[in-house]
Amino acid sequence: MTTTLLRGRLLSFHRAPLSLADSQSYLYEEDGGLLIEDGLIAAAGPYADVKTKAAEGTAEIDHRPHLILPGLIDMHLHFPQMQVIASYAANLLEWLNTYTFPEECRFVESAHAERIATHFYDELIRHGTTTAVAYCSVHKTSADAFFAEAMKRNMRMVGGKVMMDRNAPQGLLDTPEMGYDETRHVIADWHGKGRNHVAITPRFAITSTPAQMEATAALAREFPDLHIQTHLSENHDEIKYTCELYPDAIDYTDIYARYGLLGPKSLFGHAIHLSEREADVMSETGSVAIHCPTSNLFLGSGLFPLKALARREKPVRIGVATDIGGGSSYSMLKTMDEAYKIQQLLGERLNPLESYYLMTRGNAEALSLTDRIGTLDPGTEADLVVLDAAATPAMALKLETVKTLPEELFLLQTMGDDRTVAETYVAGVAMKAGLR
Ligand code: GUN
Ligand code: FE
Repeated sequence: MTTTLLRGRLLSFHRAPLSLADSQSYLYEEDGGLLIEDGLIAAAGPYADVKTKAAEGTAEIDHRPHLILPGLIDMHLHFPQMQVIASYAANLLEWLNTYTFPEECRFVESAHAERIATHFYDELIRHGTTTAVAYCSVHKTSADAFFAEAMKRNMRMVGGKVMMDRNAPQGLLDTPEMGYDETRHVIADWHGKGRNHVAITPRFAITSTPAQMEATAALAREFPDLHIQTHLSENHDEIKYTCELYPDAIDYTDIYARYGLLGPKSLFGHAIHLSEREADVMSETGSVAIHCPTSNLFLGSGLFPLKALARREKPVRIGVATDIGGGSSYSMLKTMDEAYKIQQLLGERLNPLESYYLMTRGNAEALSLTDRIGTLDPGTEADLVVLDAAATPAMALKLETVKTLPEELFLLQTMGDDRTVAETYVAGVAMKAGLR
């Protein structure tokens, strides 16, 4: 058995914090100990207590004065868009047609997909992200590269071969039958292998014919335990075009509803411009809206009403994500910095406890995976991030004035990035050190 004892300042959430003063919503241990046995958290608490549970000679790593949190979770990003990031486009549809679709065509080549996969996981680890929910390209080769690399690094990843059969270049189209068959092959090859989860992934209604939507509906019926991911209500032109393509549907959300794609394992990227009716349906079905703040600002898509959706009488479940390459940073800290600013523009407050809850336990709840990831609870997997609030000279200077934990978290969120991540553990193994 491999055991390690980490020492540092532990932070883990029990539930969503109700306010900045809600100290019952989280565990904070100033001199904390975290015992890891065979990749799982065996104990977490005061260092002096946890130390007594460690066998004689257990390797000990002292991360003080840094914070040790559950690894960050990114609920929506595109693995084949690492070289799309920072593309100068006016809006979503121009960005897709001009930059994104041509780039994704390259992932038919295994060698290219494998090369990008290496960089993709390096970047996640560098930024403290230990689980991510990704779109591959339409090509099975891209899903193979994505899941093979996840297994090499023993990371808990969710991903799917994109299904798309219209309104894109020929090199990026499958057919209803191909999309169905290849998704089944990806499931057979990868789901449950290592820590991999396969998601059913119709890109969005614009790129799927009704016949392909029928095929995704069939997959959803056959594999009710799998996650489903797609895009919803991101941009006004997109919404208008989508509704023209599905004239019988009441609205954008109703298109997916008609094919049985709503539910507690369904993850909808963006969902910015939902009507009250759509938000009700999302809530009633337990569907998750994924906020992608850097992407929404970068593409000018709109301001996601996070707080308003969460406090509805029928609240909508929410996740947070980078949406690389529409998003502009791999960092979940930067992502929450932008999420904060969007709520400011909407006249709302997103407090730092809520932000850290969302990046960790909140996203794990949105994935229905809190039994495995997202907390420091004993028995869960030792995916961790170690954050240094004095990582840069400017941060160290500001830190001199910081008096409370929420203030320190806010500093990390506002000024932090990959430099702030002192270490990233995947199933108990320090991964960032290996990249330096
Ligand atoms: N809608 C359909 N495909 C995409 C994509 O790749 N990125 C974003 N942001 N929106 C989409
Ligand atoms: Fe996206």
